[in-house]
Amino acid sequence: MDSTASTAFITFLLLLPRLCASAGDKIELGEQLLPGKPITSDGGAFVLGFFSSSNSTPARQYIGIWYNIPERTVVWVANREAPAIVTNQSSSSSSSVPTLALTNDSNLVLSDADGRVLWTTNITTTVAAATTTSRPVAELLNTGNLVIQWNGTTLWESFDHLTDTFIPNMKVRLNYRTRQGRRIVSWKDSGDPSPGSFSYGIDPDTSLQLLMWNGSKPYWRTTVWKGYLTTAEYLTAPGNIMYLNVVDTEEEIYMTFRVSDGASPMRYVITNSGKFQFLSWNRNSSEWTTVYSWPTNECSKYGYCGPYGYCDFTAQPAATCKCLAGFEPTSGEEWNRGSFSRGCRRKEALPCGGGDSLALPLMKVPDKWVLKTNLTFDECAAECARNCSCEAYAHAKLSSSSAMGDISRCLVWVGELLDTQMMGQTPWGRAGETLYLRVPAGFTSRKARTHVVKIVLPALASSFLFTCILFVCFCKFRGAVVFSFPCLGLDVLLINHQRRNDLNFNFTDNRRKESQKRLVTGSVYTSSEFVDENPTQDLEFPSIRFGDIAAATDNFSKSFLIGRGGFGKVYKVTLENGQEVAIKRLSKDSNQGIEEFKNEAILIAKLQHRNLVRLLGCCTEGSEKLLIYEYLANGGLDAILFDGARKSQLDWSTRFGIIKGVARGLLYLHQDSRLTVIHRDLKASNILLDAEMRPKIADFGMAKIFGENQQKANTKRVVGTYGYIAPEYSTEGIFSVKSDVYSFGVLLLEIVSGVRISSTDVMEFPSLIVYAWSLWKEGKVKNLVDSSIVESCSLDEVLLCIHVGLLCVEDNPNSRPLMSSVVSILEHGNTAFLAMPNQPAYFTQTCEMDKMTDDNSRNTMTVTILQGR
Ligand SMILES: *[C@@H]1O[C@H](CO)[C@@H](O)[C@H](O)[C@H]1NC(C)=O
Ligand SMILES: *[C@@H]1O[C@H](CO)[C@@H](O)[C@H](O)[C@H]1NC(C)=O
Ligand SMILES: *[C@@H]1O[C@H](CO)[C@@H](O)[C@H](O)[C@H]1NC(C)=O
Ligand SMILES: *[C@@H]1O[C@H](CO)[C@@H](O)[C@H](O)[C@H]1NC(C)=O
Ligand SMILES: *[C@@H]1O[C@H](CO)[C@@H](O)[C@H](O)[C@H]1NC(C)=O
Ligand SMILES: *[C@@H]1O[C@H](CO)[C@@H](O)[C@H](O)[C@H]1NC(C)=O
Ligand SMILES: *[C@@H]1O[C@H](CO)[C@@H](O)[C@H](O)[C@H]1NC(C)=O
Ligand SMILES: *[C@@H]1O[C@H](CO)[C@@H](O)[C@H](O)[C@H]1NC(C)=O
Ligand SMILES: *[C@@H]1O[C@H](CO)[C@@H](O)[C@H](O)[C@H]1NC(C)=O
Ligand SMILES: *[C@@H]1O[C@H](CO)[C@@H](O)[C@H](O)[C@H]1NC(C)=O
Repeated sequence: MDSTASTAFITFLLLLPRLCASAGDKIELGEQLLPGKPITSDGGAFVLGFFSSSNSTPARQYIGIWYNIPERTVVWVANREAPAIVTNQSSSSSSSVPTLALTNDSNLVLSDADGRVLWTTNITTTVAAATTTSRPVAELLNTGNLVIQWNGTTLWESFDHLTDTFIPNMKVRLNYRTRQGRRIVSWKDSGDPSPGSFSYGIDPDTSLQLLMWNGSKPYWRTTVWKGYLTTAEYLTAPGNIMYLNVVDTEEEIYMTFRVSDGASPMRYVITNSGKFQFLSWNRNSSEWTTVYSWPTNECSKYGYCGPYGYCDFTAQPAATCKCLAGFEPTSGEEWNRGSFSRGCRRKEALPCGGGDSLALPLMKVPDKWVLKTNLTFDECAAECARNCSCEAYAHAKLSSSSAMGDISRCLVWVGELLDTQMMGQTPWGRAGETLYLRVPAGFTSRKARTHVVKIVLPALASSFLFTCILFVCFCKFRGAVVFSFPCLGLDVLLINHQRRNDLNFNFTDNRRKESQKRLVTGSVYTSSEFVDENPTQDLEFPSIRFGDIAAATDNFSKSFLIGRGGFGKVYKVTLENGQEVAIKRLSKDSNQGIEEFKNEAILIAKLQHRNLVRLLGCCTEGSEKLLIYEYLANGGLDAILFDGARKSQLDWSTRFGIIKGVARGLLYLHQDSRLTVIHRDLKASNILLDAEMRPKIADFGMAKIFGENQQKANTKRVVGTYGYIAPEYSTEGIFSVKSDVYSFGVLLLEIVSGVRISSTDVMEFPSLIVYAWSLWKEGKVKNLVDSSIVESCSLDEVLLCIHVGLLCVEDNPNSRPLMSSVVSILEHGNTAFLAMPNQPAYFTQTCEMDKMTDDNSRNTMTVTILQGR
């Protein structure tokens, strides 16, 4: 065989799938690992063995772990500072080569050819002695972790001893007590694993950011963590998903990442030239692709723009240094020459006390802050305003409380502002946060910040309420708002969430102020009927006299009507204290009896959660049944989300807030409210938005209550809404909390995409779910994102949402996560629950509904869904 042929043959072998992995993945007591005899992990991903540095004579040998791929990529080196010098490589006798052996005191020991110990795992624990019954073993796991185990406990693992590479499941950690952190440290040069000058780890001073150092000097800095401690990167190749987590416990904070099953190898590495890179192995071309590399340019290096200067990433054609607003270069001449290190100075001295703050969005905030915990935004601003030397502040609500119990993070800067950056929209989606810079009074007046939204929204809301239309078959129905729904439907909206005692039934006509009518509070249910677990929270539940409501609404005059549907009409009334309420008058011939009605009203009144619409009172008289709800200024989510002109009101953070709010509300219904309540009709039009766009779940008319041990129920009458109904419910009539989870998944995909589930043709796909799945499978989920939020969104959050959405719409109810997992994933970034979604079934759905001609007649909706694949 000539050498070309043998090279080709070796390459062929290396490219073979993992079947040809060598036998052992372990070093047993007394066994030795010799040069040229590496071991491969069970699963074939990693190899442990001796390797030589490329270009040194005499050869230096190292124990390392590398990927089982054609290009040797070392991810871990044991003896980076103490190589075995091999003067005569042709020798193969074991007595004159270095060896790695597991000793009877459970240590791995590397000895050179002369038997000198070069490196040892140095376990000193006394229990780690071999006995006849239990012997230590060193094993290379398929994660790339070399572990020494003895009697079921791990005594040592290579993942605790980082070198220059960070692979999935490794941790870069910082201990809070000792402030000692682990860092990854670059090689000296590409052929020399001994420690180089660059290192990377959690900043020991703040523990809220990662730093790269050149020697002991900061060289580059990440953005500051804001509590949303998970990001998901969806990488180029299909199915390659990377989840980055920052985990905060009482003892330590650490960063780790995971990749999806079957993803190609991915790693972070710090190079000897000072780059922190994320690389992904391209199986097609057999080479590493550099996905990201930091620092991205000169200007983003630590402190490059000097004090009070910032690196403007949005500048064209290239990022460059600028002075913060109100500042000018300390030395204009140097600055113009491109020497920015002296930074900027204030144009106008900042008086002590007074002054304004200027909001600078999308910033990487400066380094060297003072952290204040548990302050609201206003308190944070005040903290800065009362300290003469305060230069700036930034506030973030943490999406989950930290291990220390903080729920917010207020950063205050009292010295120079160093290493600031205007991020803009970055390729990886993280776009910084708002920095509030102190400026002299009057500085901001030209850029007066007005809250137009607050003024415009109620006007918009009321105009849209009048455009509400009748309940018609959903199949025929596009872009309309459905207001009322079966039985007790509570599809109404509300403004200020006030305490019940503030309720003052002094109604005023908001359109004709002159005709004020008085409504007297009638008999009030005793509180005990409504007190659930929380007797201290008094729950007065006013029952209003019918006559008073009739009078207050001019005998249910059309001018008060804001919506109507199959089960009654909804009127909006403004109380004299300004509070607006929605009154729903159920149709007289609804089959429900007075007692059932009262019971149901009491049940709803018991469900108290900020993400559920509140029932404020009710009224029964003769055959009349009325319910009084909070009025929600922004109406149904569908009316905004699916309206081309209005959907931009819902930017990504609002949408993400809505998703999380709905998830919390549903979790409360499912498990936190002593009862298990299945909503059965979760959909966009049943999510109502208050003035601040916070979501509240409405319409419990079809809700079913489960006993403590009941898991699922069966019904002959399938109620729900086309598109949102889970397959097992529509075909077999079985419903459970998991059928709500399905509807939630559909809703989630709608919110992200801005596309109705009832749209029959989504980009030539039969349904939104199939479309979402196919984009996900192709790694193009970005295309699903509503074009009106693509600019504002955090891609990580969006992608995490789509992933969760696809899990929720799985065909098999058992594969769908519980709402508790969903909340944990969305709120706390707990990706431990994240499985890979399966392909959803493809349903051909037809819909037959009784068309409503008389809005007082009882509606029985039947949905027939024909299954097909
Ligand atoms: C190297 O090994 C070869 C063969 O094993 C032997 O002939 C030679 O003397 C050795 N050289 C040294 C310097 O040990
Ligand atoms: C462990 O090994 C050392 C040296 O190889 C030997 O002296 C000692 O007796 C051994 N101990 C046990 C418990 O086998
Ligand atoms: C082993 O650990 C001891 C104490 O922790 C330390 O003094 C010694 O230098 C270590 N030896 C090696 C080879 O790391
Ligand atoms: C080995 O582990 C078992 C259970 O974890 C324990 O009961 C036993 O004492 C251990 N053996 C030794 C020698 O420590
Ligand atoms: C790292 O620091 C050393 C010593 O301070 C310096 O010589 C070198 O240029 C720095 N490297 C980079 C890439 O800035
Ligand atoms: C690898 O090749 C397959 C089939 O040719 C293709 O579908 C896939 O997109 C390629 N992957 C990358 C990362 O280029
Ligand atoms: C301003 O804040 C810094 C940091 O919190 C503090 O050290 C300093 O004493 C404060 N100065 C005044 C006047 O409060
Ligand atoms: C912050 O507030 C939370 C809840 O209000 C409390 O549990 C926690 O102890 C507070 N933390 C600090 C550091 O004050
Ligand atoms: C209710 O309105 C009437 C008439 O406008 C007024 O006289 C009365 O004081 C109001 N009641 C309360 C409690 O505000
Ligand atoms: C209200 O309507 C009822 C029946 O529709 C009627 O009997 C009554 O007189 C009306 N009251 C007023 C004040 O218009």
